[in-house]
Amino acid sequence: MSHVTAKAFTPKTEVSREGEVGLSPVEVRRVEGRQFEKVNEIIQKYGRDPSELVTILQEVQKEYRYLPEEIMTYIATALGIPPSKVFGVATFYAQFSLEPQGRYVIRMCDGTACHVRGSQLVLKSMRKKLGLKPGEKTTKDLQFTLETVSCLGACGLAPVVMVNDKIYGQMTPEKAARLLDELMAETAGEAGERREAK
Ligand code: FES
Repeated sequence: MSHVTAKAFTPKTEVSREGEVGLSPVEVRRVEGRQFEKVNEIIQKYGRDPSELVTILQEVQKEYRYLPEEIMTYIATALGIPPSKVFGVATFYAQFSLEPQGRYVIRMCDGTACHVRGSQLVLKSMRKKLGLKPGEKTTKDLQFTLETVSCLGACGLAPVVMVNDKIYGQMTPEKAARLLDELMAETAGEAGERREAK
């Protein structure tokens, strides 16, 4: 069996500072992530203990917003367990994503209570506003991920949308549009501040 080392994952493209090659902060983080510095820190923090695998994966996902395949292989090697074990855990729990996620993860509840109160209309309007094509969950600029879940445990507020950790109840297509406008204005404002700071 081949041995996986950090050196094997050195990125082909050198990106040393944000904006140097026109990358957004998210893209920079993704490229830098391949250098495994942060993942090493996380693994060390838990003493390379395989019983801490779920916690390690949670922290890694928090850092990188998803679990890149090469990082999962690297974690397996560092913990001395088969990569299949890491992939198995990552695919078993719904909380883990194997694809890049947006800065804002929007979860539209489509459980029974939300469904009968119009969740599909809200979902359709949000997909349209975000310009998501059929099958797409994440916008190209990696700002938004939109997915459906079966119940958020707030049925009394149906239909419910969760953005990252925040719940929004009694949603309508109009309220969802206003919410997305606010989030988009936030990201546009931050991008403007970054440009001015240069
Ligand atoms: S069905 Fe939507 S919160 Fe329960």
